[in-house]
Amino acid sequence: MRAMKAIKRFVSAGICAAMVLGLAGCSSNGGTAFTGGKRIVRISHAQSETHPEHIGLLAFKEYIEENLGDQYEVQIYPNELLGAAQKAIELTQTGAIDFVVAGTANLETFADVYEIFSMPYLFTSEEAYHATMEDTDYMDQIYASTDDAGFRVLTWYNAGTRNVYATSKIETPEDLKGLKIRVQQSPASVSMIEAFGAAASPMSFGEVYTAIQQGVIDGAENNELALTNNKHGEVAKYYTYTLHQMVPDMLIGNLKFLNGLSDEELKIFQEAARISREVEMEAWDDQVEEAKNIAKNEMGVEFIDVDIDVFKAKVEPLHEQMLSENEDIRDIYEHIQEINAVYAEEGGN
Ligand code: GCU
Repeated sequence: MRAMKAIKRFVSAGICAAMVLGLAGCSSNGGTAFTGGKRIVRISHAQSETHPEHIGLLAFKEYIEENLGDQYEVQIYPNELLGAAQKAIELTQTGAIDFVVAGTANLETFADVYEIFSMPYLFTSEEAYHATMEDTDYMDQIYASTDDAGFRVLTWYNAGTRNVYATSKIETPEDLKGLKIRVQQSPASVSMIEAFGAAASPMSFGEVYTAIQQGVIDGAENNELALTNNKHGEVAKYYTYTLHQMVPDMLIGNLKFLNGLSDEELKIFQEAARISREVEMEAWDDQVEEAKNIAKNEMGVEFIDVDIDVFKAKVEPLHEQMLSENEDIRDIYEHIQEINAVYAEEGGN
């Protein structure tokens, strides 16, 4: 407890010092900072300032400040400035910061229902993925699962479909043998890469570029924006469409902060979150196409389409295995199967 307080003091002093670089006045009351009488709302994320999530968060900031600008100033910290996802979630948990954007893989240690999104080939179409995430009544129950941990998801952001990329060409699971592939710090993702036939190397996102460059790993798995926004296309020239996961990113808020808002304020924060999601998703669609072009034409990345059934066959047993090991994912698994079926029919499959 004492250690936690010390960390909190340290972090809040650090953040304050960082803010002082650009701001005149900065006072702090516990983990809560004020500037010119306004409560500073701090948001951390891992992406660059051109990434769709940053653009979405700018819309969040704009809406809050338009509606509650006399009380709140929203500050966005990109590029893991306040720490990698796990660390930033812990800061949000203690209230040292108020919001963080992080992928669900990072939430698995707080609520094991989030393991569901690491299950390979869970969604059978992008439409089913989006419909699941937009089913807010259902998802609100999932979002409440981290209340005990002191934080709650406000909305989701699209982070596309994850694929494998490496310094050598991968066309079949055979090509993955003997390779070290970075995965997120999630046991299900480790099992998935091992089932594909490679060795899994869990590490935080910010470490991936250097690890590939230095040959510590042979590749990683992520959406196309990792090639351009995070420059991984400079060091890994083969991007294979394994289409193995659709993992959302989440906007997560400190629960005490959210519970301390008046009903009217909370509505404004929720609406800001909804708007930020819309803006993010639009920017996402624009940027994915652009990222592919840049990676291909300017970075020399080769995009490879493969027969995904052979990859799927390798990891399919993981569905039963994960379900038998974690009862908490069964309900959402079945819920998603129903949604998959609706879109399979609509798609004429
Ligand atoms: C994507 C995703 C992040 C995630 C990262 C990773 O960029 O948007 O939330 O942390 O992948 O692989 O770690």
